[in-house]
Amino acid sequence: MSENFVLVETRGRVGLLTLNRPKALNALNDQLMDQLGAALQAFDANDDIGCIVITGSEKAFAAGADIGAMKDWSYMDVYRTEYIGRNWETLRTIRKPVIAAVAGYALGGGCELAMMCDFILAADSAKFGQPEIKLGVIPGAGGTQRLPRAVGKAKAMEMVLTGRMMDAAEAERAGLVSRVIPAERLLDDAIETATVIAGMSIPVAIMAKESVNRAFESSLHEGILFERRVFHACFATEDQKEGMAAFVEKRKPVFKNK
Ligand code: CAA
Repeated sequence: MSENFVLVETRGRVGLLTLNRPKALNALNDQLMDQLGAALQAFDANDDIGCIVITGSEKAFAAGADIGAMKDWSYMDVYRTEYIGRNWETLRTIRKPVIAAVAGYALGGGCELAMMCDFILAADSAKFGQPEIKLGVIPGAGGTQRLPRAVGKAKAMEMVLTGRMMDAAEAERAGLVSRVIPAERLLDDAIETATVIAGMSIPVAIMAKESVNRAFESSLHEGILFERRVFHACFATEDQKEGMAAFVEKRKPVFKNK
């Protein structure tokens, strides 16, 4: 039987996934990524869940892809089996909002995994980096693409070329993380934030997520058009009627997620 590398819990309408290979600083091997993908898909399909949080341990969100597992692989091993694409991409297909709650190291694939989430909440202990160059490789799970989009070319290029780490304060200044939180409050704050999102209309939250993501994948003109069409589509939901009626009637909305 394979080990349980991802702990799956629910907190109200929030799905909580904890990476659980503490002795290896949550190094991301295939089993872990398979388990993470399956758990994410199960939450995405579960109507009782409105938002997902991925977290790690106090010391490490994840210190990267598993170097021990990779070290002897040949080009054909990684190319023919589509390493990374074969299981890391699942996260990109999740429609509900996913928050990364990062404490300690988020390095290499760990930083890339966090950046694949919709936003990052960082403990003041968090350290981000793309140290792959020190291993004779480059980032392989989106680091060279998402990091410059998040922090700009200068900082991303420096980090990718030198492998230096960024602490939480610098990551917040640079726009990599949405907020820095005292480490002891990280999980509570992340669950609180996820609970706020999970209380919204799920279809509308999905539309909002798709629209913000479109900003990174299209021209401004196309993105604005996409947003307008999705905004129009909100008027086809019962939740738009409820949300606006509740405002006018000065009460809290009760979304039906329809
Ligand atoms: N893969 C496999 N094992 C890892 C690991 C990784 N990425 N990171 C840490 N570990 C293991 C260590 O081998 C060690 O195991 P043992 O106790 O069995 O020796 C254990 O975790 C604890 O690590 P350290 O003793 O090194 O802990 P430390 O506190 O001295 O250092 C660290 C912490 C700075 C994070 C250091 O572990 C480190 O540099 N890790 C590697 C970081 C890295 O290079 N990540 C990129 C990986 S490549 C990648 O991710 C490719 C991609 O883009 C997809």
